[in-house]
Amino acid sequence: MLTLGINYSQMHDSSACIVRAGELLFAVAEERISRLKHDAGFPKNAIRACLDFAGVRAEQLDEVCFGWQTAGPVFRHDLKCYVTGKMPLNYLNGLNSTLHFLSMWHQQSGAKRFVQQFGPTKAKMRFVDHHLAHAISAYAYSGFDDAAVVVMDGRGAWEATTIWHGHNGRLDPVLMIPFPDSVGHFYSTFTEFLGFQPNSDEWKVMGLAPYGKPGVDLSSFMDLKAAPYRVHTRQLIANGTKPLARLSALLGPPRVPESEIEDRHKDIAYAAQDACEIAMMNVVRMAIEKTGSRNICLAGGVALNSKANGKILAAGLAEKFFVQPAASDDGVALGAALAPCLDNNGRLPNKPMRHGYWGPSFGEEAIESALRTYKLRYTRLADPASNAAELLSKGIILGWFQGRMEFGPRALGSRSILADPRDPEMNAKVNNAVKFREWWRPFAPSFKKEAAGEYLESGTDLPFMIVTAQVRPEKRGVIPSVTHVDGSARPQTVEKEINPLYWRLIDEFGKRTGVPVIMNTSFNLRGEAIVHTPTDAIRTFFSSGMDALVIGSFLVEK
Ligand SMILES: [Fe+2]
Repeated sequence: MLTLGINYSQMHDSSACIVRAGELLFAVAEERISRLKHDAGFPKNAIRACLDFAGVRAEQLDEVCFGWQTAGPVFRHDLKCYVTGKMPLNYLNGLNSTLHFLSMWHQQSGAKRFVQQFGPTKAKMRFVDHHLAHAISAYAYSGFDDAAVVVMDGRGAWEATTIWHGHNGRLDPVLMIPFPDSVGHFYSTFTEFLGFQPNSDEWKVMGLAPYGKPGVDLSSFMDLKAAPYRVHTRQLIANGTKPLARLSALLGPPRVPESEIEDRHKDIAYAAQDACEIAMMNVVRMAIEKTGSRNICLAGGVALNSKANGKILAAGLAEKFFVQPAASDDGVALGAALAPCLDNNGRLPNKPMRHGYWGPSFGEEAIESALRTYKLRYTRLADPASNAAELLSKGIILGWFQGRMEFGPRALGSRSILADPRDPEMNAKVNNAVKFREWWRPFAPSFKKEAAGEYLESGTDLPFMIVTAQVRPEKRGVIPSVTHVDGSARPQTVEKEINPLYWRLIDEFGKRTGVPVIMNTSFNLRGEAIVHTPTDAIRTFFSSGMDALVIGSFLVEK
C-alpha cells in the first residue's frame, strides 16, 4: 500500500509525506521548496518531491490522506461557536470563517486541487480528523506499545486538546476539549499582543519569558484551577473592531512590532509561558490518570514549547517520553498517511523515530555544479568532519550543508549554522552577523550522546531539540553561548549510528577543545525558511556574516 499524507488547511505549514507499507520514505514542508515561511498554500511542490523520491506517479497511489476533515465540519463548528456565544460574532470573524469555507469547499478540501495538479488517480481521497492525525504522528513513531497520547494545538476542525490511549497499535479517544477552549490560541494571542507573528513566533515569547518576573495575573484569560484548564475565549477574542482590546484594558497597550522590549513585555511573556506550562502539565497528569500509562507521547503545535516539555520530563511524571519533532501541523501529514492502517480493526506500525532526516538530498555532482554556476572558488576536503571541526575550534562561523534535509522546524546537522559554544561572545556574534534576530533568543547545542550526561541534569536521549534540559551549574561557564539565562538549553543528542558524519564532527571538535559540544542553529536568515538546495545555501552564505561553508565535501571561504 502506497499512501501520500498531506497537511493543507490554508492556515499554516502545508506539507506532504509518502509512506510505503507503513514505512515513512520521505517528508518535506512546502515552505522549504517555495521559500515562503509557514507556506499555507496547496503543497504541490512537496507532493511532487514525494512522488519523485518514491519514483511513482499519482495514479499509482492507493490513498491520498489529508490531515484535516473536509471544509464542512470546520465551518459548522465555527457557526456553532457563534450561535452559542463561545466566540463573538463580528463582521471580521464571520467573514473569515465564510471565506475559508467557500475556498476549501470549492477545492473539495484539496482533492480537486490534487487532481488538477497531478492528473486523475484511482487513489482514495481520505480526510482524517485533525487531532487523530496528530495523535497517530506521535504514537506510531514512539515505539511505545502502551501510551498516553496528548494533542494540544490552536485548533482542529473542532478539537483544541485531546487525550488518547494508545495500545496494541490502536488509539482510543479518551478526552476532547473543543475549540475555542485552546491553549494554543491563548499562547498565540499573547504572541500577537507582544508584537510578534502569531502561529509563527511563539518561540520568541518562550525565549523572552525567563527575562521576566512573576506578578502579571492572567487568570481572567485562562483558569488553571478548572481541571485541566479553561480558556476564557471571549476575553481573548475581540468583540469589536479593535483587536486585543480586552487584553489592552488589563495589561496596557500591545507592543508595536520591532519596538523596544520593555520590562512589562518580559513579565507578560513570563506569565503566558507559566500558564502554558501549568496547563500542559495538568493535561499530561490527566492523561496519565485516565489511561493508566506513564509513557507519554505529545504532538500538536503547543508541543513545540520545548520549555514546557522539559519541565514535564524533569518532573518525572513520565516513564518514557516522546515528542514528535514535527509537532506542528506539518507533522499531521505523517499521521494522516498511516490512518488507513486503522481500517478493519487494523493496527498502526510502531517504529520509533530516531532522526528527522526525511527530506531531499543533493549529490556531490549537483553541489559542484551549483558552485561552478556561481563561479565560486572552492576546495575539495579529504575529511569534511575533521576539517569543519578545525575551523570551528578557531572561532569560524560555519555553514554546514549535508545529506537529507530535516523534517520539522529544527536543524539537526543537515542544514545548520555551526559555531564554538565556548565563546561567551558567540551568541552575539551569530545573532548580529548571521541570524539578524532578537538578542534574547537562545542558541541550541548539539552534544555527542555519550557526553550529554556530563553537561545536562536531565535527559540524555533528546535527539530533536524539542525538550529543554538544565545545564549542570558547573558546566554553564564551559558552554555559555548555548546556555540560556535560566540555565537551560535545548539540546540535540547525536548518536554515532544515526548521523555518523555529524557525530564525528562533534567528536573531532571535542578532541581539539575538550568540549564535545557544538552550537547549532538553523541555516537560514531571520524570517526565512531553512535552506533546501545548494543554491539556497550559497545565497544565504553570501547574504550573511558566515565565514565559511562546508557543502558536501566542498569548502567555500570568504
Ligand atoms: Fe494542529
